[in-house]
Amino acid sequence: MGPARTVADVGIEALAVHVPRHYLDVGDLARANGVDPGKYCFGLGCRRMAVLAPDEDPVVLAVRAATALFERYDIDPASVGMVVVGTESGVDAAKPIATYVHRMAGLPRDCRTFDVQHACYGGTAGLRMATGWVLGGLRPGRKALVIATDVARYEIGSPGEPTQGAAAVAMLVGDEPRVLRLEPYAEAVHTEEVMDFWRPTYRATALADGHHSIECYLRALEGCWSGFTAESGLGLGAFDYLLYHSPFPKMAFKAHKRLYEVATNGGAGFDPDYERRVLPTLWSNTEVGNAYSASLYVSLAGLLEHSEVDAAGKRVGLFSYGSGCCAEFIAARVGDDASAWRGRTGLRQVLAARREITHESYLRFRQAHEELARDGSFRTPLAPEGVAFCGTWNHQRVYRDATWPAAVTSARPGDACPPSDVLRPASRPVRVQAGE
Ligand code: HMG
Repeated sequence: MGPARTVADVGIEALAVHVPRHYLDVGDLARANGVDPGKYCFGLGCRRMAVLAPDEDPVVLAVRAATALFERYDIDPASVGMVVVGTESGVDAAKPIATYVHRMAGLPRDCRTFDVQHACYGGTAGLRMATGWVLGGLRPGRKALVIATDVARYEIGSPGEPTQGAAAVAMLVGDEPRVLRLEPYAEAVHTEEVMDFWRPTYRATALADGHHSIECYLRALEGCWSGFTAESGLGLGAFDYLLYHSPFPKMAFKAHKRLYEVATNGGAGFDPDYERRVLPTLWSNTEVGNAYSASLYVSLAGLLEHSEVDAAGKRVGLFSYGSGCCAEFIAARVGDDASAWRGRTGLRQVLAARREITHESYLRFRQAHEELARDGSFRTPLAPEGVAFCGTWNHQRVYRDATWPAAVTSARPGDACPPSDVLRPASRPVRVQAGE
């Protein structure tokens, strides 16, 4: 028997990002809301927010991130033994997104699938469970697929609206952590029941006690940091980069300021430190907005794909915060062979392929999603290509993927989606009682 593995042998082997194919300029949103664009762009640090088209949802984002991961890193889907989806944008109160991903990404039957939910902490919770599963060694050679996928939606005109966004990040977790190796320090976590941000199941949009949520975030950060530094003996200076959960980029600035003050007993020299160790991690967040559970990993992809940063071998600190709240600080090292995976996250490619939309289109897209939330028999126009959300039929969500009939996959963009008995010939209609 070989030596026992530690958490230092486990981590992220591959990472890929998918984002919606449209975005709204946050300055346009400010003008439409009659707000000084300076507030959204400088006060909050927002620039663009990803907007879901009617044929996109958290499932589509997750499937696309997963398939990009397999293709870009040449990974055999049969190697996956567990799928964990971290999300707070669940499309069903019972059926997990992980099951849709399992079918559409072509994963093997002997594979465990489930979703985890804890606001923006869900992706990190999934990552931690996956590393524990790999270390447990019950399925030698098998990998865990962890996907963080979310859509941030607030009421129109609310303070949270400029911080909206969406993205999915897929990560392969295993014992060859070429991208990110987790360091073996004791867990630095902080939980406290707070009402800072929430979304009751009857609502499509989240509610937030905004300023209170910022205080909760900062308190949790201090809690995690004091636990981490006491256990590890490491100070802030031990980190080359610090990645903070970014609901809006200015939050990472506030977080680093707080930690810097605590760690340096006052905070002289903060500005250059922020520019060197935090700013390079934020450019991708300004492109997509808040992606809840995926935000921290969008920052990670941004750091890996930064044109002026060579992150190879660097130590990074990741702060994950989920409202409600649970938070964690993790120390990790970027893999030594950066050249092998740079460009492979797909981040730059998916961002470059996007189209800007007007404020009117943003409102139309929102309305389509809101109608869907009300009506159990909704059909979207067909997406140009690939995996797409087609609507619901008999209260079932219907997706088009590569395995469906040519008649469907060759339909022209904008055509109404065919009824789901064409889309899913194998599926039997569910009898729904009158009045339902
Ligand atoms: P607000 O209250 O309308 O904004 O919304 P404000 O009045 O605080 O202004 C924001 C900043 O803009 C301020 O700067 C102003 O001074 C500045 P600060 O004092 O913070 O440095 N400002 C201007 N700057 C330049 N030109 C101007 C101008 N006007 C004002 N003309 C709030 C802000 C964050 C409350 C809102 O966006 C919100 O409610 N967001 C949602 C909640 C949120 O993101 N909370 C963050 C912590 S909780 C978290 O991260 C978890 C979360 O991701 C969910 C999850 O876990 O699932 C949200």
